[in-house]
Amino acid sequence: MTSLTLLALAVLSGASGASGQQAQTQEPSSPQQTAPQVPAPFAPDWGMLAGFDVFSRKGCGKCHAIRGVGGGPGPDLGRLEGAKGYYDIAAAMWNHLPRMGARMREARIERPHLTPREANDLIAFLFTAQYWDELGDPKVGEKLWSAKGCASCHALGGTGGTVGPSLDALKRANSPVLVATGMWNHGPQMAEVMKERGIARPTFQGKEMVDLIAYIVAASKDTSTETLQIIPGTPERGEKIFAERHCSTCHAVAGKGGKVGPDLGRAGHHVSLTSFASRMWNHGPSMWAKMKERGLEVPRLTGQDMADVLAYLYVSHYFDHGASAARGQKLVRDKGCLGCHSIRGKGGKAAADFASSNVVKSAAGVVAGMWNHSALMEASAQRQQVAWPMLSPIELADVSAYLTSLAKAPPAAKPSPARKPAPGARPKSETR
Ligand code: HEC
Ligand code: HEC
Ligand code: HEC
Ligand code: HEC
Repeated sequence: MTSLTLLALAVLSGASGASGQQAQTQEPSSPQQTAPQVPAPFAPDWGMLAGFDVFSRKGCGKCHAIRGVGGGPGPDLGRLEGAKGYYDIAAAMWNHLPRMGARMREARIERPHLTPREANDLIAFLFTAQYWDELGDPKVGEKLWSAKGCASCHALGGTGGTVGPSLDALKRANSPVLVATGMWNHGPQMAEVMKERGIARPTFQGKEMVDLIAYIVAASKDTSTETLQIIPGTPERGEKIFAERHCSTCHAVAGKGGKVGPDLGRAGHHVSLTSFASRMWNHGPSMWAKMKERGLEVPRLTGQDMADVLAYLYVSHYFDHGASAARGQKLVRDKGCLGCHSIRGKGGKAAADFASSNVVKSAAGVVAGMWNHSALMEASAQRQQVAWPMLSPIELADVSAYLTSLAKAPPAAKPSPARKPAPGARPKSETR
């Protein structure tokens, strides 16, 4: 069995009786319910992580496997094609709903209800379940290993430099997230040594980082069978770490926070996980310089910290294409939403007025709202003989940008009494 399978087994067995409680600790806990070879950090704590908890509590696991483990009639959700951004996963959930719904009826499984927070955690979990899919090319990696100068300081598979530690053990960190963490933590020190020796500090473009990892895995003589996989991150913990480690001193997320570095939410970068790892490295020296100016230590991160920060940035749409509310406005009309819904009284009467809906105030609210009302929507779509409105990820992002903008920009003249009044009344977990 591969370590991944074991990992997933650990998830499934550890999770069955999971409570809503969140794992706060990575301390190895007793692995009694799981196969003995399973690396301890992934054992029972896994099941308590918010996203996986939602996945199991809501019965998704009755029909879906995660990386070959568990499941039924639905596709494996650990291998979603191109699930790079929030809306890729949200759109997949939406577009498959009619057939999924039919299966649920057949199996007499009630369609689960999702709160916005649950939708966020679930989507972040499904995203982090895809980590291992970015496969690199070891041949390209081998060239990079010498071209980027790693070979002059590090040994691998018994050959190479001795200035830095041997990187054989990095094989176990077979994930761009863990490699990025190692390179981040040792980055300032490495930069010093490079400077001393007159070696130009390399940067990474495109897929170079995964190619390099693929080579390290292939060339390493490390014989340990343990693979250090990270457990899926959760956005709540990520938000906390982002503040505690002072990332928020310099970075805003969706407008909230410092202005020294770029805004890391709704940035419209559409970067992949790998390219995130490369960016942390490439921008390192400028970040450290700014930290020094402010008397901040370069924060050390564990792999789990990094995974949590990623989950947080993920639900903040760092990984998405830029969405357009203007395109969204057009889509809401063209996709027939206004056949049933209205906006400030104009449109259909069969469903909620988007401008006064309390549900569509955040992206997660839109996704959860659409999912929760899908059964009703399906029924009225059938009655009115309209096709299920399929949405591509970018279309869903546009629709969501438009609908959330309605809640943010009330018409100046008459404040609608239907709108939720008090500022600050909005639950924090729903505002991403
Ligand atoms: C009763 C079985 C059943 C349950 C329960 C169920 N699904 Fe599905 N799901 C399916 C089937 C069947 C498909 C494939 C539908 C199709 O091909 O259109 C699917 C498709 C999907 C897809 C698209 C996959 C792809 O390859 O693009 C996603 C995402 C998804 N489901 C998420 C979920 C989530 C999240 C839950 C829990 C909240 C859930 N499902 C619960 C049966 C189910
Ligand atoms: C000029 C020498 C030099 C070069 C070139 C260099 N490194 Fe390093 N590297 C070091 C030193 C020295 C350390 C230990 C730093 C410390 O103790 O914090 C290190 C540490 C590391 C670590 C952390 C290892 C651990 O045990 O956690 C990683 C990962 C790493 N380097 C990767 C790379 C990669 C990948 C490259 C090529 C792109 C590279 N290094 C190029 C000198 C170098
Ligand atoms: C002292 C200020 C400061 C702190 C603290 C800081 N950064 Fe940065 N960060 C910057 C600056 C400035 C840039 C742009 C650097 C450049 O242009 O090369 C940047 C760039 C980045 C980028 C690349 C942005 C892009 O275009 O996608 C990422 C990712 C990033 N930082 C993440 C983090 C994370 C995660 C933390 C916390 C662990 C953090 N930063 C802490 C100042 C900071
Ligand atoms: C065939 C009629 C119909 C169409 C077309 C339709 N909906 Fe709905 N929608 C409903 C019904 C019925 C509900 C559940 C009752 C309600 O909450 O108003 C609903 C609820 C929602 C909700 C939750 C709103 C809330 O305040 O609870 C959202 C969000 C939503 N729909 C979005 C959309 C979007 C986006 C489109 C176009 C892609 C769309 N709907 C197309 C009938 C429809």
